[in-house]
Amino acid sequence: MINTQLYGLIGKPVEHSLSPAIHNALFKKHKINAVYLPFEVDDLESAVKGARALGIQGLNVTMPYKERILEFLDGISDDAKVIGSVNTIVNREGKFVGYNTDGIGALKALKRFVEIKNKRILVLGAGGAGRAIAYTLSKLTEVVVLNRTERKAKELEKFGVKGEKLSKGRLEYYSSWADIVINATPIGMNEDRSPVPGELLKKNQVAFDIVYSPLETRLLMEAREAGCLTIDGLWMLVYQGAESFRLWTGIKPDVEFMRNVALEVLKNVQ
Ligand SMILES: NC(=O)c1ccc[n+]([C@@H]2O[C@H](COP(=O)([O-])OP(=O)(O)OC[C@H]3O[C@@H](n4cnc5c(N)ncnc54)[C@H](OP(=O)(O)O)[C@@H]3O)[C@@H](O)[C@H]2O)c1
Repeated sequence: MINTQLYGLIGKPVEHSLSPAIHNALFKKHKINAVYLPFEVDDLESAVKGARALGIQGLNVTMPYKERILEFLDGISDDAKVIGSVNTIVNREGKFVGYNTDGIGALKALKRFVEIKNKRILVLGAGGAGRAIAYTLSKLTEVVVLNRTERKAKELEKFGVKGEKLSKGRLEYYSSWADIVINATPIGMNEDRSPVPGELLKKNQVAFDIVYSPLETRLLMEAREAGCLTIDGLWMLVYQGAESFRLWTGIKPDVEFMRNVALEVLKNVQ
């Protein structure tokens, strides 16, 4: 096709990503002449050079490059700079500008189901996603982050977040303190483990797992059994993807449509 614009995902691995299906379905729905492709990348610098040379209009960036990509960009949004991680690149007249949509994606996923103001939030994990979530939510309410590596938890104190080393005692204390518990570690991803023992969860709490494979992780299953409201990671995935799509096209897409596309893909791979 003439004038087809190219978008894509760079990372390693990328083959199980839901983003190509979601964004290609959105391009089709909105009659935009564009395609979105996954690119498995070994040499990040060359990949970015190639993307510039080919005139790629936008990219998502996934593990393990969300932090290292910053050095290859022409501009970085203030939020992405503070978080230190970029998951979306927009080609603005030849200049590659980096954004982070993980925090806003998590915020919108939460806001779909609960009021956040004045809620106490516990975030487990201070990796790329945990940092983005803690930073974004801390603008609105009280956030505590527990992380295996203490240094990374303490680094978040510059956002006004309380950061502590993850320990059994702190997990017990803060799980009962929190109104909303968020898992931003990979614990539970394609495995039958939970970062929070089920007996620590109680009715009236909200459990949000950003892991989306499986859709109902052990954390969410036990939280549901304890009477909590549960939110799965696919909601964050579609809201962060919606924000990327908006940055690329100016269009605010239908997240339910995006979620249905993703669910269809997940159904076919199971
Ligand atoms: N739904 C979505 O849209 C979405 C978006 C982004 C990420 N995710 C998912 O979120 C998860 C985290 O992603 P990320 O990019 O933040 O990864 P990351 O940068 O590698 O960070 C992982 C975090 O989890 C902690 N962690 C890892 N294994 C642990 C264990 N066994 N016990 C305790 N803590 C552990 C790490 O602690 P240390 O600091 O001690 O290493 C780190 O804080 C992944 O499963 C990813 O697929 C989902």
